[in-house]
Amino acid sequence: MPSNSAPNTISGSTAGKRKILVTSALPYANGSIHIGHLVEYIQTDIWVRFQKMRGHRCHYVCADDTHGTPVMLRAEQEGTTPEALIERVHGEHFQDFSDFAIEFDNYHSTHSDENRELSQDIYRRLDKAGLIAKRTIEQLYDPEKEMFLSDRFIKGGCPKCKAEDQYGDSCEVCGATYSPTDLINPYSALSGATPITRESEHHFFQLAECETFLKEWLNRNGDDAPLQSEAANKMAEWFEAGLRDWDISRDAPYFGFEIPDAPGKFLYVWLDAPIGYMASFKNLCEREGLDFDSYWQPDSDAELYHFIGKDILYFHALFWPATLQYAGYRTPTKICVHGFLTVDGQKMSKSRGTFIMARTYLEHLNPEYLRYYFAAKLSDRVEDIDLNLEDFTARVNSNLVGKYINIASRSAGFISKRFDGQLATTLDDDGATLVTAIQAQSAQIAHLFEARQFSEAMREIMALADQANEYVSDKAPWVMAKQEGQEAALQTVCSAIINAFRVLTIYLKPVLPKLASEVEAFLNIDPLQWQDVNELLTNHTINPYKHLMKRIEQKQINAMIEASAATLQQAPSPARHGEAQQKNSKTEQKKTTKSKNGAGLAVPENGAGSSINDETDNTIQFDDFAKVDLRIARIVKAQHVEGADKLLQLTLDIGETQTRNVFAGIKSAYTPEQLEGKLTVMVANLAPRKMRFGLSEGMVLAAGPGGKELWILEPHEGAQPGMKVK
Ligand code: 2FM
Ligand code: ZN
Repeated sequence: MPSNSAPNTISGSTAGKRKILVTSALPYANGSIHIGHLVEYIQTDIWVRFQKMRGHRCHYVCADDTHGTPVMLRAEQEGTTPEALIERVHGEHFQDFSDFAIEFDNYHSTHSDENRELSQDIYRRLDKAGLIAKRTIEQLYDPEKEMFLSDRFIKGGCPKCKAEDQYGDSCEVCGATYSPTDLINPYSALSGATPITRESEHHFFQLAECETFLKEWLNRNGDDAPLQSEAANKMAEWFEAGLRDWDISRDAPYFGFEIPDAPGKFLYVWLDAPIGYMASFKNLCEREGLDFDSYWQPDSDAELYHFIGKDILYFHALFWPATLQYAGYRTPTKICVHGFLTVDGQKMSKSRGTFIMARTYLEHLNPEYLRYYFAAKLSDRVEDIDLNLEDFTARVNSNLVGKYINIASRSAGFISKRFDGQLATTLDDDGATLVTAIQAQSAQIAHLFEARQFSEAMREIMALADQANEYVSDKAPWVMAKQEGQEAALQTVCSAIINAFRVLTIYLKPVLPKLASEVEAFLNIDPLQWQDVNELLTNHTINPYKHLMKRIEQKQINAMIEASAATLQQAPSPARHGEAQQKNSKTEQKKTTKSKNGAGLAVPENGAGSSINDETDNTIQFDDFAKVDLRIARIVKAQHVEGADKLLQLTLDIGETQTRNVFAGIKSAYTPEQLEGKLTVMVANLAPRKMRFGLSEGMVLAAGPGGKELWILEPHEGAQPGMKVK
């Protein structure tokens, strides 16, 4: 199910042009895209668009990461097949990316023929290279579901503090780490059955054998090393700690690819996921007649860049180069690692309404605001970036609209009304000086884009916009327009301003492609390329100016936050792999929880990571849970809320003298009449939230994917309003 779009800008001769293949991490097919994901896709897309504007042969490929137990279980829960589920999610992901102007050359799927062939072939090559070992391990098995259970699917009592209902790898109460077999009265989180211990043969990738190669790869190219210094330091720690075998097999039932000549054994999702980069490119090559081998053979003249989040470094900087090298392929040129996203200085939070899905954002705000803001924050370091909503509004309004757009809006009207759209044939000295000064920064700005120092690039571009605005203020075309005999001067000044605006548009085009294309239509010119910087637009007719970008209004931000809070009250947790890698053997050292170095790079002792910084990933201590005051509530009154599409207003009795007022996003599933008189469960100590319609003093609990499929919790008969739920 490939989807594609972006044409390459290059035509004719390709001499002297770089061949560049770029990837972003493949999002999991078990959830939706949110703004945390978008940091990476926007960062990559800006870099790719820049390369294409420079005339290089650059291809950007991605795919959905579809395999593993969570997808299999989710499909089962939804009463569908994994294939149908991943097909649907593929469409949703692709649409979200497209609407954020993220333009892949191919958006494929890891559940594809290309990926099956490549993955199985790579497995065979690794086996032939002597890197696969087979060992029998003991593992817990769910006799009801008839499947082996990874640690996260086993619960039981903590062997240390005896707290109940702890996961199979660590205790949330006392922090102890252990093996699932150490749990007191373990049970399957899937069926509740008591797991039994079973033996099974597993296939291991012997990573330690690759150490010499990995060290050589890491130190390759001197200053132009494949990893940023924070990431290289992390690698050094991993080498120090010793590289361990990697369990790359899973037993049936498993949604994935079978291991060749090993019936009932499947390749672990993390083995075939990065091969999905190759598979997506292969699919593109077949469609467009490109030479796949020339990109992937060991002596390839192409460059290969992987953009990833810091949590999946282990897979990309250890397993992936080793896999490629020993399977006879080229290795990555660079792995570009970014940090996580916080919103208003904190992890994205459902209750605060800052866990913002891509779609929710799009319903309220222009995607290019976010592209610009991320660009203004991103550097080449492995640093977290913060979306501060106040700063977001201020920067977009003052820089993008107030500085850049303003340049055009202060001059274009005169050209259309007074000169019939005609620009002057030459610029005067001051105008030429201004435009030359802006053009002169082209190499420096290109260097910053190339080096992924986007925030620096934005700073320089805005400084140039300041210069242009000073010129506008000095010349004051609105005054000239009223003076006799200033006609020609007015045309020349406005033409210089339009030229300054045109060059700035080239610089901003990788970040703001939609806006740039509207500017191209307004200027009546062909799509701008980087090399066009040095041209002048004179003696040329432009089209009438239409306002190009609106300012952000606070009410748009409020509505987005409100909608996020309402939507996510109903929605299941977004994309998350959630599958831990199984232990190698009983003697393997005990896991520790993810440790962090200064840059916050996780050490995945355990396999699957995640590229997002959301609060759902963080387990909580019992004390944290105890802080939530859950109460039985009677719905005394339920009513529609004027102007709200999703909300019902509930009056709840929780045994206090005063009733509570709660706005709940459940209108799609209930009429007020169906609710009045019913009992439910509410979070009684949630900080009150001021909404457009009034104060919401808590939250009712509901389950289901949303829309009509939404069910609020109802206790068994006998529960009384005010009773604590624990
Ligand atoms: O962490 C994640 O979201 C993974 N789905 C990324 C996979 S990237 C590549 F290896 F496929
Ligand atoms: Zn414990």
